[in-house]
Amino acid sequence: AGTFVIAIDGPSGTGKSTVSRRVATELQAGYLDTGALYRIAALAVLRAGLDPQDTDAVADLITALRLDPPTDPDHQRHHLDGEDVSEQIRGPEVTLAVTPVSANPVVRQHLFTVQRTLAMSGRMVVEGRDIGTVIAPDATVKIYLTADAAERARRRFDQNAARAVHAGAPAGQAGPGLADVERDLARRDTMDSTRSHAPLQAAPDAVVLDSSSMQLRETVRAVLTLAAERG
Ligand code: C5P
Repeated sequence: AGTFVIAIDGPSGTGKSTVSRRVATELQAGYLDTGALYRIAALAVLRAGLDPQDTDAVADLITALRLDPPTDPDHQRHHLDGEDVSEQIRGPEVTLAVTPVSANPVVRQHLFTVQRTLAMSGRMVVEGRDIGTVIAPDATVKIYLTADAAERARRRFDQNAARAVHAGAPAGQAGPGLADVERDLARRDTMDSTRSHAPLQAAPDAVVLDSSSMQLRETVRAVLTLAAERG
């Protein structure tokens, strides 16, 4: 009681991160991107030269990892061992390794504490896969954001292209094609939904928002309306 948490869950490519950040800015609340924590863990695993599937070695490494994620929705920079890894954690190597790392129950337990502490620290918008079900089952508002698989792939593809341009890649440089992006999303959806620990699923009391044919600002407005009703 007394805390105000907006939990936003759903698969990748729904616009979840952008919507969550905008809602947080609008409400002058904090923002926690829990996917970024799993991505930092996965990068740490790769840098240590570990096999992401090596459950025990990964558990030992991540249990010793100190995480101090940003909560300002307008200044999101992520660090590992003092180095800014904000771009690297979105790369294809990390995106591949994050699935087995996030399925590791010891990793989830360790990250639970970090997430729960921050979620309870004030007014927060928390975004991920298991926020309404595991991290903040007591959240003020729970949103499950979805969209058609094809639409999500298209959005992620556009986002990758925009990021490549931003990073100074030569125009037209071949990143993964739309079909590859769609395949990767399908792979992650399946793995995230079927893993035994904290699978991706809508909480029974979550409001399901299908953003397939919604503009970003319509989705933001829908979340803000729910927050105003409940908060
Ligand atoms: O949201 P994002 O795509 O950055 O998340 C990366 C991966 O981290 C997901 O595919 C999922 O495997 C894992 N994840 C998770 N639980 C969360 C957030 C992310 O298992 N709450």
